[in-house]
Amino acid sequence: SRPRCHTRAFQSDSKPPVPIPDFAFAFDIDGVLLRSAKPIPHAAETLQFLQRSTIPFILLTNGGGKHESERVQDLSSRLSIPLDTSMFVQSHTPFAELVHGANSLKNKCILVVGGEGGHCRDVAEKYGFTNVVTPADIYMAHPEIWPFGRPFKDSYYRQFARPLPKPINPSSPEESLKIEAVFVYNDPRDWGLDLQIVLDVMLSHRGLVGTYSSKNGDRSLPNSGYLQDGQPPLYFSNPDLLWAADYHLSRLGQGGFREALEGVWRALAKNASGGGGDDRDGNGQAAPELYKTIIGKPFEATYSFAEKRLLRHRDALFGSRAQHVPLKRVYMVGDNPESDIRGATTYQSPHGIDWIGLLTRTGVYKDRAGHRPTCEPRAIVDDVRAAVQYALKENS
Ligand code: G3P
Ligand code: MG
Repeated sequence: SRPRCHTRAFQSDSKPPVPIPDFAFAFDIDGVLLRSAKPIPHAAETLQFLQRSTIPFILLTNGGGKHESERVQDLSSRLSIPLDTSMFVQSHTPFAELVHGANSLKNKCILVVGGEGGHCRDVAEKYGFTNVVTPADIYMAHPEIWPFGRPFKDSYYRQFARPLPKPINPSSPEESLKIEAVFVYNDPRDWGLDLQIVLDVMLSHRGLVGTYSSKNGDRSLPNSGYLQDGQPPLYFSNPDLLWAADYHLSRLGQGGFREALEGVWRALAKNASGGGGDDRDGNGQAAPELYKTIIGKPFEATYSFAEKRLLRHRDALFGSRAQHVPLKRVYMVGDNPESDIRGATTYQSPHGIDWIGLLTRTGVYKDRAGHRPTCEPRAIVDDVRAAVQYALKENS
């Protein structure tokens, strides 16, 4: 049935009034709409109902690995619903903004980690980055950088590796490949190689691959900042330790890779001495944290980015009339208390929009007697259809 919305119906002579709701939805994908690539029951029909009812929604995922245009095409066919990039935010979508502005990374040499094949490089280049290197490029030019996995690694990486802009040149470091920012766009497929290469860059002297600087991360030095020796910034796109894939138990996500990297970083930094190498550090200095930036749900940067995209999408849907019915509530429907619900609960909208977390039982979250979700939602519902029914009831 069509929901009664807090709206002002606008009579137009040719068409029936299009009510403008003062609420909207943000749907998580993995564990709410899809399990890996398979639609979850009632997901398609629920989105189709919302489109028929002209109730705005966006898809907000910590997933990624392909360009937004490619993924919305895939999602449109899987969910049998027309979608476009104006209603879609992936984990790495906000990285596109780093191409612009005073500190633009557009032409800087960046390392992009994660995803299948060369897809994430394609995404970065479509965002506008012009000088993108991947671990595959480094491995194919210097296979000795990671002693394991030959020859199958070679046959895999050869398919999409490109020549490096500069070789790794330990004998004349200033001429060596210099990485100026590191991005993890999607879940790494080769944790060993990717972790080693990211670590090499973060322990290097000013991003010069093949150099080692014991200064990085050593709090014992005077300026106890993390960027002791010009380390390049390190960006992660998704904090998810776990996510709901095909297997019945949740799987490690990009957050698992980051925790593994940080564990090795702490172990190395703790034992690093002034001379570099493996000498044990005599002062038992607490291992410093790895300097990094993490975006994705639950972080404010991603919710703010998603809210802006939702408002633009809503304006495009209703035109100038949208301003007469300001958006007041966004129902964030997710399966992960730590990303979807925590993000909705903690996000402070500059527009006074109330983000409300609705937790489904179709993904990471599992009911356990005597246990509540690690972040309390407005309601726990069986699936995405029940979440929309809950919200419509609240707005009827
Ligand atoms: O890699 C995807 C996973 O981290 C979860 O994605 O759609 O549940 O935010 P999603
Ligand atoms: Mg999910």
